[in-house]
Amino acid sequence: MPYRKTRPHTSRLEQIKHSNTKVVMRLLPRIRNRQSLRINSVRKLVGQTRLRWAMARKRIQTLESDNSVEETIQHNLKSLKDFSNCRIELLIRPLSVIESVRHARSVLLIGPRNENDLLIASTYLDIPLNCVRGLDLISYSKQIDLGDMHDMPYEDNSFDVVICGWTMSYSNQPKVLADEMARVCRSGGVCAVGVEYSTLDEAGYEKLLGYSLAIEDLKRINSVKQINDLFGANLDQVFFSHDSPLKQSHTAEGKVDFPSSVASIFSIAK
Ligand SMILES: C[S@@+](CC[C@H](N)C(=O)[O-])C[C@H]1O[C@@H](n2cnc3c(N)ncnc32)[C@H](O)[C@@H]1O
Repeated sequence: MPYRKTRPHTSRLEQIKHSNTKVVMRLLPRIRNRQSLRINSVRKLVGQTRLRWAMARKRIQTLESDNSVEETIQHNLKSLKDFSNCRIELLIRPLSVIESVRHARSVLLIGPRNENDLLIASTYLDIPLNCVRGLDLISYSKQIDLGDMHDMPYEDNSFDVVICGWTMSYSNQPKVLADEMARVCRSGGVCAVGVEYSTLDEAGYEKLLGYSLAIEDLKRINSVKQINDLFGANLDQVFFSHDSPLKQSHTAEGKVDFPSSVASIFSIAK
């Protein structure tokens, strides 16, 4: 029988060490021109490479919260590898033209899920990635703190900009979340909130997904007024309002390609 050379067994981490991933990881600190992250394919390559690296090192951590929908973690882990969704740009791009935000040195993104929102914020707000923090119930990244948005692990007035993108609707205590956002944002700093417009109720979600993301006895936040009212006296100057003009929502019968979004950007007074 001819002698057959067998390849030595290598772990996933070992394989990655000898693949393109290692090359991209080495190049990352040299990406001085953050503008390149505006190209979707470049951002996707960078983001997915960093995620693969963390997964191989078993760095994914999760934290349960009684204040968010029960299925939050299971639902969001399914799309951890998705770096194509750019809806956060509805908040980041208007933020990028606000005068006071141009001088921002610390940005918090609540509920980024993966590093995609952070990379987009870094490029459009022209701020180094290490000045952009994320806070989520899921983390694999040194840039994303594992924590509950209803009880944030930050001192008062820690951030110039606080962004909560497509995450508020997971909360059964949105007023507590708004108070926390105002607390960690400095006076005169800017908060931005975006939510998906949705007419789905519990039964609708059950039919569409097999589980519900709706919160019993809590009116879904579907308008700028509802968002702004949560911030009460902390809401100062409103810079941008987007009240889902097309009112497109997923239904129990199926998903729409482009569900509408509601967004509000305003400064904080204390
Ligand atoms: C739908 S994703 C939003 C992802 C991204 N920001 C976007 O706009 O596409 C919602 C994220 O909020 C996080 N989240 C939900 N409840 C949270 C809580 N109590 N504290 C921190 N993060 C939470 C989820 O884990 C998830 O990653």
